Amino acid sequence: MTSSDSPQRRGFGVDVGGSGIKGGIVDLDTGQLVGDRFKLPTPQPATPPAVAKTIAAVVNEFGWSGPLGVTYPGVVTQGVVQTAANVDKAWIGTNARDIISAELNGQEIVVLNDADAAGLAEERYGAGKDQTGLVILLTFGTGIGSALIHNGILLPNTELGHVDVDGKEAEHRAASSVRDNKGWSYQKWAKQVTKVLVAFENALWPDLFIAGGGISRKADKWVPLLENRTPVVAAALQNTAGIVGAAMAATSDVTH
Ligand code: BGC
Repeated sequence: MTSSDSPQRRGFGVDVGGSGIKGGIVDLDTGQLVGDRFKLPTPQPATPPAVAKTIAAVVNEFGWSGPLGVTYPGVVTQGVVQTAANVDKAWIGTNARDIISAELNGQEIVVLNDADAAGLAEERYGAGKDQTGLVILLTFGTGIGSALIHNGILLPNTELGHVDVDGKEAEHRAASSVRDNKGWSYQKWAKQVTKVLVAFENALWPDLFIAGGGISRKADKWVPLLENRTPVVAAALQNTAGIVGAAMAATSDVTH
C-alpha cells in the first residue's frame, strides 16, 4: 500500500474553555482539522453535568464514535479532576472521564490538561516541530498553563503556573489576565514574564519555550522584549492546538 492510499489516521478532540467548548475531527498525520470545528458556549455555571452534556452535543454534531480526547483547565489524573483554579470548584474530585462517557453511550474517552494538549500539538505539528530536547509550552491566559515535553514524551500535569516566583504565584504575576486587569503596557508585563521564565529555565533548563494562549497572537509586541536566556517562540497552531492535542492523546501513540 502506498502512502497515498493508506487510510488517514483520525481522532476527535474537544477543547473546553471558559467561554466556549469546541471540537473537531483531526487528521493525525498532518495535525490539521478535517472540515470545520464546531463550537457551543460554555454553560454557566460550568458545572460537570452541564459541561458534559455540551461536550456530548459537540461530539454528536459530527456523529463521531472513534478515539475521543477532551481537555480540562486543571490537573487530571486517570480521568479524575484534582484542581479547579479558574473554573467551577464542583469539578474537584469528579471523574470527568466517566461523566462525559455516560453522556456518549459509554464511549471511551481520554481527559487531559488543556496546556498539556496544546503542548503535544505544538511539539509535533507546530512551533516545536523538529525540536529535540526539552520543550516547555506556556499558555498565557486567565492563568498560566504548562506542558513539559521531552523528545516527544509529555510529563503531564506540571502546573508551573502555580510555582512561587519571588513571593508570588507565577500566574498571579504574569498571566495575560494580570496585564488586562492592571492595564499594563506590553513592556511592563514582559518584565514579569521574564522573571517567570528565568525561574523556570533555572530549574528545568529547557531548549525551547513556546508561548501560547490568546496573547501569543500579538507575540511580536512582547516576545522581543523578554530578557531570559532560552529561546521563546510563539505558538503556531493558535486556536486549534487544544483540539489537535486532545485527539492525539486519545490515540495510543501518546502517553497520558
Ligand atoms: C491551571 C492549569 C491550566 C491553566 C490554563 C491554571 O490555573 O492550574 O491546569 O492548564 O490554568 O488553563
